[in-house]
Amino acid sequence: MVKQEGPQDSALHRDVDHVLISEDVLLDRVAQLGRQISQDYQELNPLLICVLKGGYMFLADLTRSLCMRHGIDFMAISSYGSGTESSGVVRILKDLDSDISGRHILVVEDIIDTGNTLAYLLENLRSRQPATIRVCTLLSKPARRQVELHVDYVGFEIPDEFVVGYGLDFAEAYRNLSFVGVLKPEIYS
Ligand code: IMP
Ligand code: MG
Repeated sequence: MVKQEGPQDSALHRDVDHVLISEDVLLDRVAQLGRQISQDYQELNPLLICVLKGGYMFLADLTRSLCMRHGIDFMAISSYGSGTESSGVVRILKDLDSDISGRHILVVEDIIDTGNTLAYLLENLRSRQPATIRVCTLLSKPARRQVELHVDYVGFEIPDEFVVGYGLDFAEAYRNLSFVGVLKPEIYS
């Protein structure tokens, strides 16, 4: 039988300078967050809103570790800005399927960097009168924050480096890596 080359030893992997968070560490932390969220929400039947595309892998693992009833929905937004920096000018590409008034909302994000994208999104969601809104992000780069934001659940605080993998991309590539890694600077400069 011919051994198939997996993404971990492919050309994608060779563009990664180093692994920042390994798959094992990611999955342990996601399971911990899942336990905490399950306890906090219990009978509230929250709606988890996944922000596409970067949040898809985190949502998939997070929901599998939840043991309370919940719904999921998706929003896709594009934030205008340069290749590695957002501007806060956001366009909704795909909106929610359902009305969220009176619901308990948990926004599931891949990463909060400047905070511009999330600030816009929260303002937009609040105008729809949900009962509560909380935010769960896998990664946060506090050193880069431009707007004050309260984040309820944070997987990992990371330094100011551009990361890919576990849903996060550069130019739409690297999302399928099962770890979070720092890209070689020559790839994006
Ligand atoms: P913010 O508006 O600056 O907080 O940017 C948030 C969005 O920028 C995230 O949802 C990502 O799509 C993208 N982003 C920010 N930092 C990174 C990174 O290190 N790697 C990949 N995408 C990132
Ligand atoms: Mg995102």
